[in-house]
Amino acid sequence: MFVLGLQGSPRKKGNTNFLLSAFMEEVKSRGAETQIINVPDKNIKPCIGCGNCEKKGFCSIKDDDMTNEIFALLRRADVVVIATPIYFYNATAQMKLLIDRTQTLWARKYKLGLTDPGRPDRKGFLLSVGATKGKNLFEGMILTAKYFFDAIGSDFHGKLLYWRIENFGDMKNNETVLDDIKKEADRLEPMLKRKKILFACRENAGRSQMAKAFARYHAGGEIDALCAGSTPAENINPVMVEAMQESGIDIAFRKPKSIDEVVALTKPDMIITMGCGEECPLIPGVEYIDWNLPDPSGQPIEFFRSVRDEIEEKVKQLIATL
Ligand SMILES: Cc1cc2nc3c(=O)[nH]c(=O)nc-3n(C[C@H](O)[C@H](O)[C@H](O)COP(=O)(O)O)c2cc1C
Repeated sequence: MFVLGLQGSPRKKGNTNFLLSAFMEEVKSRGAETQIINVPDKNIKPCIGCGNCEKKGFCSIKDDDMTNEIFALLRRADVVVIATPIYFYNATAQMKLLIDRTQTLWARKYKLGLTDPGRPDRKGFLLSVGATKGKNLFEGMILTAKYFFDAIGSDFHGKLLYWRIENFGDMKNNETVLDDIKKEADRLEPMLKRKKILFACRENAGRSQMAKAFARYHAGGEIDALCAGSTPAENINPVMVEAMQESGIDIAFRKPKSIDEVVALTKPDMIITMGCGEECPLIPGVEYIDWNLPDPSGQPIEFFRSVRDEIEEKVKQLIATL
C-alpha cells in the first residue's frame, strides 16, 4: 500500500509538518510504503484555465513538477493525505496551486469519460491546523478537500483537525494527537492486510501495467496490485495507453519501476511474470506464476488489443480463485 503525503505549510518545522510526519511514521510502521512531498519546495505553476485538459486530457503546462512527478504519484497512491495549515479559511497558496492543477484528472473522468482503475478504493485524508477556535474554521478547507479527493479518484476517508494551533511546537504538545493518528491508522488496517500481487515483465511499460490496472479495476480494493520490470523503460508504451483507453481504462501518468525497487519496499505474496522469466528475483515464501504472454513492445495496436484482452481474462480468472 502506497501512502502519499502532501505537506502544504511553508514552515518546514511547523505544526502541519509535525502532524503529517507523525501520521506517515505510524502507517509506515504498519507496513505501508510512504512518500512525503513538501509542496512549497516544488515548482508548480498555476492553472491557466486554458481548457486543454477538457479537450485532450493533458495539461498544457509541461515543464513543472506537477506534470513531471506529482500526477504520477497521485495516480499510483492507494492513500493520499493532504496536510495544510489554514490560511484565510482554506489551504495555503502553495497547496492550492497543486489542487487546481488536478483539474486535469477531473477532466479525464468527467469530460472524457475515462476510468481511473484506482477509483474509488483510493482513500483520502485531510490533516489541518488553525490558530483560532471558531466552529467554522475548517469548513472552507473541508469543501475544497471534498472536491480535490473526487478529482483525484478517492473517497474522503477521514480527517484530523486541530483548533488553537499557532506557534511552533503547539501541535507536538497536543495531548491527543498521537492517539488520534493511531485510531485513523487502525481504519487503514484492512488495506494493509490485502494480498500483495506483483505483476512483472521486462520493461514495465505494457503487459505488467495492464495487468495491474485490470487487477485494481476488477478486484476493487481487495488486492494490493503492484507492477514492475526487470529492465524498466523510461516511459510506458503510448500504444498500450491507447489500447487501454479503448477499454475505458485510464492508464496515463504511470511510470515504469524496477522489480528490485518495488520488492525492497514491499514483500509480495505472489509474483506473476509475463516475460521476464529467470530475471525475476527469487524471494523465499513467495508464490510464482508465469502467464507466458507475448511481448507486445514495438507491435501495432491490434496486437496490443489482443494481449490486453488476454490479460483482462487472466486477471478475472485470478481474482475468482483468490
Ligand atoms: C497568511 C496566514 C493566514 C492565516 N489564516 C488563518 C485563518 O484564517 N484562521 C486561523 O485560525 N489561522 C490562520 N493562520 C494561522 C495558521 O493556521 C497557524 O499558525 C498554523 O498553526 C500554522 O501552521 P504551520 O506551523 O504548519 O505553518 C494564518 C497564518 C498565516 C501565516
